[in-house]
Amino acid sequence: MLRRPRRNRQSAAIRAMVEETTLSVNDFIYPMFVMEGNNLTSEVKSMPGVYRYSIDKILEEMSVVQDLGIRSIALFPLLPEDKKDKIASESYRQGNVYLEAIHQIKSKFPSIAIMSDVAMDPYSSDGHDGYVDEKGNILNDESLEILAKMTVAQAEAGADIVGPSDMMDGRVRVLREALDSKGFINVSIMAYSAKYASAFYGPFRDALDSAPKFGDKKTYQMNPANVREALIEAELDYSEGADFLMVKPALAYLDVIKSLNDNFDIPIAAYNVSGEYAMVKAAAQNGWLDGTKTMVECLTSIKRAGAKVILTYFAKEYASLSK
Ligand code: PBG
Repeated sequence: MLRRPRRNRQSAAIRAMVEETTLSVNDFIYPMFVMEGNNLTSEVKSMPGVYRYSIDKILEEMSVVQDLGIRSIALFPLLPEDKKDKIASESYRQGNVYLEAIHQIKSKFPSIAIMSDVAMDPYSSDGHDGYVDEKGNILNDESLEILAKMTVAQAEAGADIVGPSDMMDGRVRVLREALDSKGFINVSIMAYSAKYASAFYGPFRDALDSAPKFGDKKTYQMNPANVREALIEAELDYSEGADFLMVKPALAYLDVIKSLNDNFDIPIAAYNVSGEYAMVKAAAQNGWLDGTKTMVECLTSIKRAGAKVILTYFAKEYASLSK
């Protein structure tokens, strides 16, 4: 045999030398949940190790996160039912818990990049990402105005990157124009471009009490069977000015990540979502999988597929490995 591929695997030094994909904490965005109140920390049942914090507590947690070397977070709000309405008006009310959290984190941790979430669901009495009419239709263009208002409010509070996760058509352009018109030319847009109508979001909706009150999200989120359609979404977001294109979920959509990375030259992000995290945690807790090794393998696969940026609840655990 002239070719023996095993020669390049024969020692740890050689294996490390030929390693094609390396993860860095710089690649990660750590999603975190904030809620109203004081001195509150509550674990998300279906996501062991993930908590919802009141603002004072999230500031404490931010020190830990920063000390671990994590440089970016994505923040999501949990709101009480009585703050929700059809037009998600809480989302752009000055001083709401979310804007206040962004503002305080930015003031105390100025070098952390904060990504905000742009979608109506945490604030919507219908639990949908867009505006719902009397017949139960999710109205696209009416939603854009609301999304633009919350985006500007988030930028004013100190968000570095806004993340439209709503999947309304044309939103990237509307957000870009709204940001620019207020002078926020340097606030980036990470578009959830190929966001699928996925069962893997279950634990996240538990965390935020944000499950749709009726129906599902299939008229705006993508059909898991489609990959060519992801290119249309990506093309639109790119041409409307997105700085990053995201695929979500990650692990069941590695082909979509690769397809976007092959076709676009801006950074591709992937969201390793709540259900993907929960599966690994549940199996590890049962002793069925080695949690740490499985985590590293999952994150490596996402990067190998072509994601430069990974949003993952594992960020903290991964960062602790090298400490
Ligand atoms: C909704 C949103 C969802 C997630 C992020 N933003 C869920 C949904 O579309 O219902 C899911 C993240 C996760 O599962 O970790 N705007």
